[in-house]
Amino acid sequence: MRFPTSALLPFFAVYIAFQVMASQSDSQAGKAIYDAKCKTCHGANGEGVQAVAKALKVEFRHLGSKEVQSKSDDDLIKASIDGIGKMKPVKGIPEDRTQNLLAFLRSLAKK
Ligand code: HEC
Repeated sequence: MRFPTSALLPFFAVYIAFQVMASQSDSQAGKAIYDAKCKTCHGANGEGVQAVAKALKVEFRHLGSKEVQSKSDDDLIKASIDGIGKMKPVKGIPEDRTQNLLAFLRSLAKK
């Protein structure tokens, strides 16, 4: 007797639902880190704070822009923690939270 594939569909649907829920909570946990560690310079939605740009003599790219979003996951995490260009390293982000932060950064992508 052949096992009907359709019998698996409900399980599959539940699995997907959990994945979506998990990724949302990731990005929400990431937002808390972002709000605490990044927002003062990068703005609530990654747009960049003009006063900071002026003081540091840089121009912020929107963190949701194509240029930033086209970086690999590793490069984004590295820039976020070790700093990049005129951005200094950011201290106090637990290593097991970097994926949450990444999920939030990805959620900023401009649609
Ligand atoms: C003290 C201000 C400051 C803080 C805090 C800060 N950044 Fe930055 N960040 C900058 C500046 C300035 C640049 C641009 C550097 C340059 O172009 O020389 C930058 C660049 C970046 C880039 C690269 C963007 C690009 O255009 O390629 C990423 C990604 C980034 N920051 C993420 C983060 C994240 C995530 C946090 C929090 C964990 C954070 N930053 C905290 C100032 C800051």
